[in-house]
Amino acid sequence: MAAIPSLGQGLLPGQIDKAADALDVFDFEAVAQKTLPPAHWGYMATGVDGEDTLKANRQAFTRYQLRTRRFVDVSRMDMSMELFGMKFTSPIVLCPVGSQKAFHPDGEVGAARAAKAKGNLQILSTQTSYGVEDVVKARGGPIWFQLYTTDSFDITTKLVKRAEAAGCNVVAVTVDLPSGRNTSSMMRFQRADTRVCANCHTDATGNLANPRVGGGVSTTKPMFADINPQGLGLTSPSLTWDFIKRLKDVTKMKVVIKGLETREDASLAMEHGADGIIVSNHGGRATETGRGTIECVAEVAQAVRGRIPVIMDGGVRRGTDIFKALALGATAVGVGRPYIWGLSSYGQQGVERVIEILNNELRLAMVGCGTRTLKEITSSSVIDTARRA
Ligand SMILES: Cc1cc2nc3c(=O)[nH]c(=O)nc-3n(C[C@H](O)[C@H](O)[C@H](O)COP(=O)(O)O)c2cc1C
Repeated sequence: MAAIPSLGQGLLPGQIDKAADALDVFDFEAVAQKTLPPAHWGYMATGVDGEDTLKANRQAFTRYQLRTRRFVDVSRMDMSMELFGMKFTSPIVLCPVGSQKAFHPDGEVGAARAAKAKGNLQILSTQTSYGVEDVVKARGGPIWFQLYTTDSFDITTKLVKRAEAAGCNVVAVTVDLPSGRNTSSMMRFQRADTRVCANCHTDATGNLANPRVGGGVSTTKPMFADINPQGLGLTSPSLTWDFIKRLKDVTKMKVVIKGLETREDASLAMEHGADGIIVSNHGGRATETGRGTIECVAEVAQAVRGRIPVIMDGGVRRGTDIFKALALGATAVGVGRPYIWGLSSYGQQGVERVIEILNNELRLAMVGCGTRTLKEITSSSVIDTARRA
């Protein structure tokens, strides 16, 4: 007989046989952990140093509570969202996550098919394990291209032009990892993995799931296949705000900055011509002992004052998390690990079910607060308990 679950737990996480059985995204987390080799699981699950920022991303959501409203006609709900002239079914965005073949053979193409089926925005990593052309084709429409700046502007320009030619309409420049990071937990998982990496990777440094952001660049990554990556850095420690203009001069794509957390940087981004901002700490994988990103959204949104879109990611696992981010000023909300759990467990079907679960949970939060459209979700839809105290 199956173990009887405790209150609030539902089915014991991971006790599912197919994507459709998942009741929340944590069901997929449990399956992914069982399915993936330790090194690949470690690459995805961990943060940096003692993982305080990673934990803060989750913990900080508890600071905010929903303010319910009653007797609103919620028989018709509209969760659709528009960004740069494109309409999406809901505000859930699939964040750029590198090396997705390390989680499922369909990798980014599987995620793209799910994004297409559900009508959601996908952002593709520079470190993608499929070429941008294949992913745009699978999505059947524009995706955004996430850019690691590299330390050679010529090569950066080549990457950007290739993404633009493939049909991307936005480039999201990641700026939160200018010069390395300490991935000690990930390295512990690697040590626990007894397999010989070179069986699947072209070299033992694990280039299929190359986590060395700020380190070297590998030819095994399709975006670098035609580029000589010898000695090339994936990011550069010397870049400053003028990079936005340089980038805008070589592309017609909208330029969004990923990895900002403060009002100062939000204002500077706008001054320098950014078309959008992603409030992000790289899922707790960049600067340690930072704030949870949900605590940064209002600050950034207040500086931006609705002039450009603000997307937020980090620790989003529930529809109520998405609702809180929207209430605090986000235009859209990104998920990273949750859809990778889905992908690792059941490929495209898993990603689709993750989107479906989060959509359902968001809809219920909206119903509870009497907000029928994303626009109706405002700062009065949540309470900041840190202020109330
Ligand atoms: C395994 C993994 C790989 C990632 N790769 C990239 C990347 O290539 N580029 C990037 O800008 N962000 C990358 N991120 C960060 C995500 O885009 C996103 O900011 C983060 O995952 C959101 O937090 P969450 O995982 O808690 O939802 C990665 C995150 C993970 C977990």
